[in-house]
Amino acid sequence: MQDEIRNIRNEFMALVSDVQNKQELEELRIAYLGRNGKINLLTKNLKDLASSEKAEVGALINQTKISIEEELQASEATLRDIAPKFDTSVPGILPPVGHTHLLTQSIREIEKIFTGLGFVRRRYPEVEWDWYSFTSLNFPKNHPAWDTLETYFVDAPSDNKLGEMILTPHTSNGQVREMQRGKLPIRMINIGKTYRRQADISHTPMFHQFEGLVIDKNIAITHLKGTLDYFAKSFFGEDRKVRLRPHNFRFTEPSFEVDISCDLCGGKGCRVCKGGWLELGGSGMVHPNVLRAGGIDPEIYSGFAFGWGVERVTMMKSGINIPDLRVLYSTDLRYLEQF
Ligand code: PHE
Repeated sequence: MQDEIRNIRNEFMALVSDVQNKQELEELRIAYLGRNGKINLLTKNLKDLASSEKAEVGALINQTKISIEEELQASEATLRDIAPKFDTSVPGILPPVGHTHLLTQSIREIEKIFTGLGFVRRRYPEVEWDWYSFTSLNFPKNHPAWDTLETYFVDAPSDNKLGEMILTPHTSNGQVREMQRGKLPIRMINIGKTYRRQADISHTPMFHQFEGLVIDKNIAITHLKGTLDYFAKSFFGEDRKVRLRPHNFRFTEPSFEVDISCDLCGGKGCRVCKGGWLELGGSGMVHPNVLRAGGIDPEIYSGFAFGWGVERVTMMKSGINIPDLRVLYSTDLRYLEQF
């Protein structure tokens, strides 16, 4: 009878290792541990044995029963924990994949266009002394741009020479900082965050500008025009043109407002552009006082500069219509995802 018991146990072990699901496991449990199962039949047969054998055989039946129970439990746990992970029929879940923000895409494109022309990308402080943002750029004291309505002042001790600490309202603070590096010629593209106290559908308190600065011997307005024309064609499309319109900035002389031909009407004039041209941003030839502030002799060197809004050129790019600029800085993925 001991052999019979061992066979039952071995047979059970073989069967349980093949079990595929809970129902098969339950059937196996009934066949071995059920009321009419194999273990109970063995127990019933005990009474036919000689009493000398009973104790030993009884213990073997018990052991077998225990190991069958343990095996059933282990097998059940395996089915519960692991089986679903191997169910290759369940469709997979695609994790959401992000992409760079629309403005990051623009910044990278702008950087690429200018570095292709030999410009070097720079970054200068956003928290800045007013000397770099205003005084060194030929702003007289009391100029309206100093007004707290436009510029954020930082509540920090001021410096004797450099003045008060502010959040820079334009990337032009990078002009004299770049000159102070002391390396000529200069071909800088400074792309960064700028701050002004303003908030409506076309203004956000924080926005981005890209500032170009070229300083070398014999730099003329034609270099300025050619560079900006090249940028406009690369960024907006081959058929676009730029024109210069006289303007006034403290730190450039002469100064220009740069316009780009409207792509809706091709420059004929329409409801959007009113006259065929759209305003891109400011530019001009670097003022001699600014060169002097940067330690450069205006008798030997000349240069041009421009500073445009990243948000603005992004909005003007064909096919991108941003009804409210502020949404660019929201976390609404339904909006941001489309770019
Ligand atoms: N800093 C000017 C602005 O923010 C733009 C500008 C830059 C104009 C460089 C001329 C030269 O409006």
